[in-house]
Order: sequence, then structure tokens, then C-alpha cells
Amino acid sequence: MSCGSKVLLFSTLLTDAFMSEKINIFDTTLRDGEQVPGCKLNADQKIMIARQLETFGVDIIEAGFPISSPGDFEAVKRIAQEIREPIICGLSRSVEKDISAAAEALKPARRPRIHTGIGTSEMHIKYKFNSTQEDIIERAVRAVAFAKKYVEDVEFFAEDAGRTDNEYLARVCEAVIKAGATVLNIPDTTGYCLPDEYGQKIAYLRDNVKGIHKATLSTHCHNDLGMATANSIAAVQNGARQIECTINGIGERAGNTALEEVVMTIKHRFGGLYHTDLDCTMLKGLSELVSDKMGMPVQANKAITGHNAFAHSSGIHQDGVIKNRSNYEIIDPREVGVDKSVIVLTARSGRAALAYRAKEIGFNLYKDELDIAYDRFINLADRQKEVHDQDLSVMLTQLFPKVAI
Ligand code: KIV
Ligand code: ZN
Repeated sequence: MSCGSKVLLFSTLLTDAFMSEKINIFDTTLRDGEQVPGCKLNADQKIMIARQLETFGVDIIEAGFPISSPGDFEAVKRIAQEIREPIICGLSRSVEKDISAAAEALKPARRPRIHTGIGTSEMHIKYKFNSTQEDIIERAVRAVAFAKKYVEDVEFFAEDAGRTDNEYLARVCEAVIKAGATVLNIPDTTGYCLPDEYGQKIAYLRDNVKGIHKATLSTHCHNDLGMATANSIAAVQNGARQIECTINGIGERAGNTALEEVVMTIKHRFGGLYHTDLDCTMLKGLSELVSDKMGMPVQANKAITGHNAFAHSSGIHQDGVIKNRSNYEIIDPREVGVDKSVIVLTARSGRAALAYRAKEIGFNLYKDELDIAYDRFINLADRQKEVHDQDLSVMLTQLFPKVAI
């Protein structure tokens, strides 16, 4: 082997060893997210959000549940017509009329996907369907085969997979892959699983389902115990290559996996082992858009997109951040479309924060001036929740009329 070929072989091996795996992002804000009471969107609002999701770079948009209402049918159809880059997906139960409606609404799509499925847990089989495990497998296979008559890309969901026995779940998965399913969605519908349990479930399917290489394993986690993000990440570590999630984590009950949380975890915690193709600087704007259109405020302490996600208010933290942002921030706010971190002045703030904010509004204080200002400030802060720039400016102007720069 020549020296040149050896170098080439070595660099190929190196590249292979460090090959980053793409994680597909399946956004269901417009379907599972929109099921939240009071969050219903009209077709124009759905289109507006879908356009932003397309620019953002999501791989799949679940646009709605076409059989559920004429309005949703029209919205899915318009999204299928107007949004060309991502796969457009429509939900259906394992019922022929649902699947036909989804197929009809998705007809104009450049890349259509039908998402069909049925409950597989003992609970669902007994109390929802009054049926048997074998009958559920038959219905699942029939639904997938029927959907395949319309589109090539068929995703199957095993509802309540989180509480489904793994061995039975593997049999269901094997059967629907044989029928042509391209994606296997393993929902933790009730948000019941613990991360290691859910990760092991995905690993079990990866290792025991014949033909699994023909399909993509997908996570769809609900947040009833606050585990949705952790569960989705555990699934990725065990072989899932698609995450179903919503902006701001909205969705049934306690919501779905928050898109912004899984995406930033993938970006920051795996040393490049996995990646997504998203423009993360759009995250804050998308969060505000969805919150505004759905009339659903984002909690202040929400990870990544909440109002306080990059705000520092205690003296110890403020001093640390002013010295070096990384002391208390693991993400640069600009990465997610937030201008900068903020130092909030409260009764827990120290001198470093006061000097910092004073400088920001034009007062460069010497040490003795800072001591005087701090006494006045801390009394004011004890009387109100937060000392805003305007309060500070009035206070400093009274104390030091000539210090302003
Ligand atoms: O939570 C769930 O199981 C679902 C399915 C319909 C995919 O939303
Ligand atoms: Zn769901």
C-alpha cells in the first residue's frame, strides 16, 4: 500500500470513528401541542408557524389530525401545499376512514407521511378496545398496509408503549415493519417511564425486533412526571434517531418533550456524537410566536426560552457571571436568539451587580460612591421585588448628579 493510500485509509477511519449521527426532529406543536384546551389555531396561524418551523429546519412537521374536523383537514392540506422542505405528517387512528382522510389532506405534499397506530398496553387493549393482543396486532398490520396504498412513508405509533410489555411490543413492531412501516413511534403516552426504563425499552427493540434496520425508532414522551426530556435523551442514547417534541413543551396534560431542551442537550452534551440540522438562533423567536398565537404563556423558569433562563439575581451568581459568564451559564444566550444575559437587581444582589448595572446606564462609580449607593439601593430593594433601571437612574442622579458618563 502506498504512503498516500495509508494516509487516506487512516483519515477515513478517523472520520468514521467520529461520525456524528443526525437526530431527526419531528415537531408536533401543530398536532399534539394544539390539542391543549384553549390553544386551538386557525389555518392561517398554523401556516405561519409551519413556515417558521421550515426555516428553522425541522425534519418533520406533524400538521394535524385531518379526520378530527373540517378545519384541521383544510389546515393540513394547506400546509401540505405550501411547505415544501420538511416531511408533512398527518395523524390517524388505525381506522380506514381516518387513514383515507389523512391521505387526502396530504395529497399535495412533496414528502407526505401518514402516522397511524393503536394502543398496545394491557390497559388500552382491555379497557379501550375490549380486545386481545393478537387482534391488536392484526389491526395494526391492516392499518399500516392500508396507509401504504397511499404513501411510501408510514409511521406507526404503539400508543402507551411506555406501559407495554417489551416482548409484546417487539412482536407488534416486527409485524408492522413487515407490513411496511418506515418509522416506529414508541410513545410514553402517560409520561410514566423513568429514563433508564425507557432507554432499556428502546434498546430492547433495537436488539430484538427482526427487520429493525428497515425502520427508524422514534421517541414521543409526555411530561407527567417531568421526565419527558430525560426520557427522550435516554432513547437517543439507546438507538432512537427521531425525537417527537413541541415548542415550549406544550401538549396534552403536562405536555410533550420540549423541542428546545432536547435540541440544546444534543448540541451541548454529547461532544458532537449526535447533531440536528436546526438554526438554534430561532428558538427564542419561535417560542414567543407559539406562545403568542396559542395564548399560552411560557413559565419564567422554563429551560432555554423562559424569561429567567439567562437572568441572574443573587449576589454570588452575579459576581461570578460578571467575572466570567461561564461561571453560571452553560449556553451563550445568543445561540438561542436571546440578546444577552441579564443582571437583575434585587435585595439579594451585591455591589458587583450594582456597579455593573450602574455602568450600563451611564454611572461609573468609584469605590466610596458605590458604598454610599449600595446602602441606598439595598433599602430600596427591600421595599420592592426588583430595582429597575429607571429607579436606579433616579436614585443615582439624586446621589451623584455629576458622575454620569
Ligand atoms: O401520546 C401519544 O401516544 C400520541 C400518539 C397519538 C402518537 O400522541
Ligand atoms: Zn402524545
